[in-house]
Amino acid sequence: MSLTCRAAVLHQSGAPLSVERISIAQPAPTDVVVKMRAAGLCHTDLEVIDGSLRYPLPMILGHEAAGIVEEVGSAVGDVKVGDHVILSWNPHCGHCFQCDRAQPILCETYLARGAEGVHFDGASKAWLATGGRLTHLMFLGAFSEYVVLPAQQAIVVPKDIPFDRACLIGCGVMTGVGAALNVADIGHGDTVMVIGCGAVGLAAVQGARLAGAGAIIAVDLDDAKLALARHLGATLAINATREDPVEIAKDATQGRGADVILESAGHPLAFRQTAEAVRPGGEVIWLGKIDVTRDVSFRWGALMGEKRFRRSSYGGARPRRDFPLLAQAYLDGRLKLDELITGRCGLDGINDGFDALRRGQSIRTVVAL
Ligand SMILES: NC(=O)c1ccc[n+]([C@@H]2O[C@H](COP(=O)([O-])OP(=O)(O)OC[C@H]3O[C@@H](n4cnc5c(N)ncnc54)[C@H](O)[C@@H]3O)[C@@H](O)[C@H]2O)c1
Ligand SMILES: [Zn+2]
Ligand SMILES: [Zn+2]
Repeated sequence: MSLTCRAAVLHQSGAPLSVERISIAQPAPTDVVVKMRAAGLCHTDLEVIDGSLRYPLPMILGHEAAGIVEEVGSAVGDVKVGDHVILSWNPHCGHCFQCDRAQPILCETYLARGAEGVHFDGASKAWLATGGRLTHLMFLGAFSEYVVLPAQQAIVVPKDIPFDRACLIGCGVMTGVGAALNVADIGHGDTVMVIGCGAVGLAAVQGARLAGAGAIIAVDLDDAKLALARHLGATLAINATREDPVEIAKDATQGRGADVILESAGHPLAFRQTAEAVRPGGEVIWLGKIDVTRDVSFRWGALMGEKRFRRSSYGGARPRRDFPLLAQAYLDGRLKLDELITGRCGLDGINDGFDALRRGQSIRTVVAL
């Protein structure tokens, strides 16, 4: 018998999400069913709503989430009913060309199935009340009271981290902190610039602090986000509507430029500034994204000088290793998450939460499920 529950469904890009009853599939032997407790509204969900990121619809959005394991399939061994889990959006097969080269984020099955909006085993696992198939954003579709998913995507974390904080680790925090700790090569005392101080960027600021950066220059367009960046570890905060981040990076480094730049704005101008503001021999990690059909222009000279550029997804996440470590860093007070929550709502208020994100007025709104 399948389970019915409420979920937020995108029927058409540009339209608000519709909160409605859906049915979810019985778990396959390697699946678990998770009673969702909290999910963050990430910019990536907004890109799907606004149509710059295109998937087959109707789709259940939501991919930054935490909950309690309600049921496990007959072949699941390492996740138990009652475990608290953070959901990972990077299932991978473990034996394709890219998995064999330690790049689970490029797993060939992950990339092929993700574009179709199906689960990792190739099936849709939810239906509209009318019987039509639903697709799932990033193998999850977490804006739903219940989610069925492969056990490899349900990562057990300590029970003492509250769900509304834990969910943030599932995307924005993993991406930002991981970019600093797993992807970039930040040396002790380095000057790191972070462009864009939403949840991803504020996590990147904290990752740079944890990596031992000497100076952390945070850049945004919003003074309130910059004040928070200072609170979370930035040593300098620059409003790019008033000051030029490229000049600031050079002034702070005797004209050389920042050692490492973590970009988390998702804006063509910010991409361009990273190339201008990094020092020769330095490193740029792009985390943000724009419509994949758009061009971004760079001054050729700004790309020279042995600079290293890398676009990275999910902060080099190895969720089973990293989620418990990040949860423990929160519990120990080394990673601040409370400050990232600027709004809360239930499923019925989810469209207002996305409006606030679209206007740049929120960092993370968390939906209680
Ligand atoms: N790489 C990944 O795996 C991954 C994961 C999650 C999100 N993302 C992407 O990362 C970006 C940030 O995500 P988020 O959820 O933190 O979004 P967000 O909208 O909350 O934050 C973006 C921030 O960038 C600022 N900004 C915009 N243009 C700017 C500019 N020109 N200069 C300086 N600051 C600027 C905004 O004021 C905002 O504070 C988005 O593009 C999102 O799609 C990537
Ligand atoms: Zn693979
Ligand atoms: Zn996300």
